[in-house]
Amino acid sequence: MTGTGQAQGNEGGSPYIDTSKPHPARMYDWWLGGKDNYPVDEEMSRQLVAMDPRIPAVARANRAFMQRATRWLARAGIRQFLDVGTGIPTEPNLHQIAQGIAPESRVVYCDNDPIVLAHAEALLRSTPQGATEYIQGDARRPAAILAAARKTLDFTRPVALSLVALLHFVPDEDGAYEVVDELVSALPSGSYLMLSHGTGEFTPDRARSAGDLYKSRALTLALRDRAEVVRFFDGLELVEPGVTVADAWHPEPGAAGEPVGDEPLPIYGGVARKR
Ligand SMILES: C[S@@+](CC[C@H](N)C(=O)[O-])C[C@H]1O[C@@H](n2cnc3c(N)ncnc32)[C@H](O)[C@@H]1O
Repeated sequence: MTGTGQAQGNEGGSPYIDTSKPHPARMYDWWLGGKDNYPVDEEMSRQLVAMDPRIPAVARANRAFMQRATRWLARAGIRQFLDVGTGIPTEPNLHQIAQGIAPESRVVYCDNDPIVLAHAEALLRSTPQGATEYIQGDARRPAAILAAARKTLDFTRPVALSLVALLHFVPDEDGAYEVVDELVSALPSGSYLMLSHGTGEFTPDRARSAGDLYKSRALTLALRDRAEVVRFFDGLELVEPGVTVADAWHPEPGAAGEPVGDEPLPIYGGVARKR
């Protein structure tokens, strides 16, 4: 299905949205100034901002990294994207950037939160020349994602795998490294991995408090240090300048990061090519 079709996973009617506990996609939406969140999300988002006032700036810096990395890849000739952990649509979405450069680009989105499925229509507005698809799926089950993505993407041609601000929700015990390995293994030579990842490296006390809050709400936060983030790119050729704080990855003229204190914003980003 392409363009404005029904998202895969939505055959059974409206998705069930649990408003009794916070969800990462909806908290991220709140930090970005979106409207697709509930009081329970706002409450926890505010608690986290009280711990670290820079969190909304981190969310914006992350979104800006996604946009720059997508542009870089589209300019490098990539015409297929598999974006896992898509989040609630926020313009410009990945396909709008890719198709703005190459209208024939094909993009498959995937998230496991029903709120993203509920808003997937905005992700399915493809150019006529290209295609977009939305899969309701869990990153911890990569085989199912790959099987569904193959209906839209040609895995004999390069694909950019996008895992932007996803893996800090997947702890080692859930197989974070194995998941990335299985997804990357399915891609042909000339494909890319782009990812960003939250870190507690600069302010460990704040990170510990945030982790405790997530745990108290039965949520996972698996922040990693730079070496652990670099490990996700094992076996791939990192594009210059390698894994950096997201703001520093190919900054664009006139879009300098916001003044937000002395420490760098605690999120890493990088892009790497499969040989
Ligand atoms: C912080 S948002 C990032 C959204 C978008 N990638 C961006 O960077 O702007 C993280 C997203 O990952 C999704 N997510 C978390 N764990 C996931 C999993 N196991 N499988 C699929 N999606 C997941 C959440 O639902 C949320 O939408």
